[in-house]
Amino acid sequence: MESRVNRTRRGWRVQRFFRFLSAADELAGERPTRPALISTARKAPRGRATRSQERARAMKIVVIGGTGLIGSRLVELLRLTDHEVVPASPTLGVDTVSGSGLADALRDASVVVDVSNSPSEDPETALAFFEASGRHLLAAESEAGVRHHVALSAVGTDRLPGSGYFRAKMAQERLVRGSQRPYTILRSAPFFEFIGAIVEADPEGSALHVTPAYVQPIAAGDVAVALRDIALGRPQNQELEVVGPDSFRLDELAVQILTANEDPRPVIPDRQAPYFGAILDDDSLMPGDHPRFAMTRFEDWLRLSIAQKLTPAF
Ligand SMILES: NC(=O)c1ccc[n+]([C@@H]2O[C@H](COP(=O)([O-])OP(=O)(O)OC[C@H]3O[C@@H](n4cnc5c(N)ncnc54)[C@H](OP(=O)(O)O)[C@@H]3O)[C@@H](O)[C@H]2O)c1
Repeated sequence: MESRVNRTRRGWRVQRFFRFLSAADELAGERPTRPALISTARKAPRGRATRSQERARAMKIVVIGGTGLIGSRLVELLRLTDHEVVPASPTLGVDTVSGSGLADALRDASVVVDVSNSPSEDPETALAFFEASGRHLLAAESEAGVRHHVALSAVGTDRLPGSGYFRAKMAQERLVRGSQRPYTILRSAPFFEFIGAIVEADPEGSALHVTPAYVQPIAAGDVAVALRDIALGRPQNQELEVVGPDSFRLDELAVQILTANEDPRPVIPDRQAPYFGAILDDDSLMPGDHPRFAMTRFEDWLRLSIAQKLTPAF
């Protein structure tokens, strides 16, 4: 049987092109229908909305975890639109675990995007976080009449019960699906930034044991773009996937990151090396048949991130 990796490698160029076209169509179709122009002294050009119509259509979008890696990028992107964007997180006075500040933040909100994360990957902490956070958030959304809940999850969440963190993400997804509220769950491939951070964080001087499982990683900025498009569209009431343009073995990525950082540590491919506590097979982190493909290539991202590290701050 053809593996998921081969299917993805063979098809990604064609699929990316068609996904790009259909994403553009979807977006165009998802825009709210423009109301008929009313007769006023100064008519807007035919087919274009007046400023007051634009304002009337603007939504309030709350980004839970709006200070994080993905959240801060998403907030920046949404602020380029006509919508009102409210980042929310404990440092901004909103805590989804205790519920404090939530009702105020969600008042009059149309869309909530949840890109928050547990303070730790420890299985019990992560499960307690995603369960408490999900319950409070969905109840507050119901109270506020929020029309679309968007949640960021991970590719492979349904295939990695051996990982406590992935079980916690599954619990988060289950709460969303069971809430009877309109939703879209976006499962993302691992972020370039995350893989870079775990490789660089390992203790200096020792060899790195890394699983050779396949992964199709993605730039955090591209995840934020996909979430923006979803937040501005209609609820899909299903799970979508987003991945980067190319697949790699994780140990090969680790070698590339260490080489670019002039880090001499050797990388040992090790099928038993855990990823979030789970032992991976080749396809555990690979997407299904119809992911959305992002554009940023790992090599370009790595070059840029090294250049940024070497650039003195002014
Ligand atoms: N890492 C990956 O490769 C990957 C892949 C797929 C999916 N994901 C998912 O992506 C999501 C976002 O990850 P990230 O790396 O952007 O996270 P991050 O940088 O660690 O940011 C976490 C955010 O959550 C907020 N937060 C923490 N506790 C909270 C609470 N009690 N109430 C409300 N907000 C709270 C933080 O706020 P403060 O700044 O105020 O503390 C911060 O804004 C996660 O759910 C993760 O599972 C990650």
